[in-house]
Amino acid sequence: MLPTLFEVARFRRELNDVFTLELTPPAGAFPFRAGQFNMLYPFGVGEAPISISGDPDRPERLIHTIRAVGAVTEALERLRPGDGVGVRGPFGSAWPVAEVEGMDVVFVAGGIGLAPLRPAIHQVLANRTRYGRVVILYGARSPEEILYRAELERWSGRLDTYVDVTVDRASPGWAGNVGVVTRLIERARFDAPNTAAFLCGPEIMMRFTVEALNSAGVEDRRIHASMERNMKCAVGFCGHCQFGASFVCKDGPVFRFDRIRSRFNVREL
Ligand SMILES: Cc1cc2nc3c(=O)[nH]c(=O)nc-3n(C[C@H](O)[C@H](O)[C@H](O)COP(=O)(O)OP(=O)(O)OC[C@H]3O[C@@H](n4cnc5c(N)ncnc54)[C@H](O)[C@@H]3O)c2cc1C
Ligand code: FES
Repeated sequence: MLPTLFEVARFRRELNDVFTLELTPPAGAFPFRAGQFNMLYPFGVGEAPISISGDPDRPERLIHTIRAVGAVTEALERLRPGDGVGVRGPFGSAWPVAEVEGMDVVFVAGGIGLAPLRPAIHQVLANRTRYGRVVILYGARSPEEILYRAELERWSGRLDTYVDVTVDRASPGWAGNVGVVTRLIERARFDAPNTAAFLCGPEIMMRFTVEALNSAGVEDRRIHASMERNMKCAVGFCGHCQFGASFVCKDGPVFRFDRIRSRFNVREL
């Protein structure tokens, strides 16, 4: 599959090393499902898998939020409106947003993991009456590293949504929670047997989050986690993203936790 040329419509700085690229789809719309990702290609540098972080109901805006960590993401960080970028996608599995209608939904995000969850949050909030209690729990390293701060405030201002945020390290002026995101689970009220949880963040954070959810009574089959692995082809051909018997690019990135528990946290699998 060859990359299609997209134009950068907007560049927005989110945090010191995190930015959002808004791309204009040449066909006028780019349908995708919440949780899917694209391969973004700054020409001449290489490709990186990046989740789509926009609203699936607004396919005319293709949004990605990216942390600059190496050659490809740093080249993406240099793009500005009017520049071209190659796009392949959308790829991968999706958050089962429709399947969990009627249930309480708990989103747990760590760091930039809020970006891949955001399309699912948009969908659930747009169809709010179809769900029970909606809980959004978010952990960042410091107050300065809280992603989508304005949006978190907007969500927390809704009477029908429970939002709780914590940071690993406080800084002067921070009056909120300090500690790991799992501590927020203990006090978030939800009907555990009728709860679906969607997780995205570092694997260690997801591991402890699953334990906390299990202790609260949420079964593995109701927990969905987005996994990250190195990728090359993104279409199940090269094997770079192998995760035991699965390929993250086509069987994931969103997996039901009972199907990956035995492989979860096994290094270099
Ligand atoms: C399905 C999927 C969805 C993804 N969605 C996003 C997204 O929405 N936004 C986003 O910013 N990234 C996302 N990533 C991660 C992103 O693909 C990598 O960060 C990117 O490939 C790094 O490429 P690079 O060439 O810039 O850096 P590389 O040269 O590959 O890496 C530079 C250094 O950073 C380390 N590194 C690589 N990835 C990460 C990471 N995620 N966190 C911390 N350190 C890392 C490497 O180990 C290396 O030491 C996703 C990955 C997958 C598999
Ligand atoms: S990236 Fe090639 S098989 Fe998944």
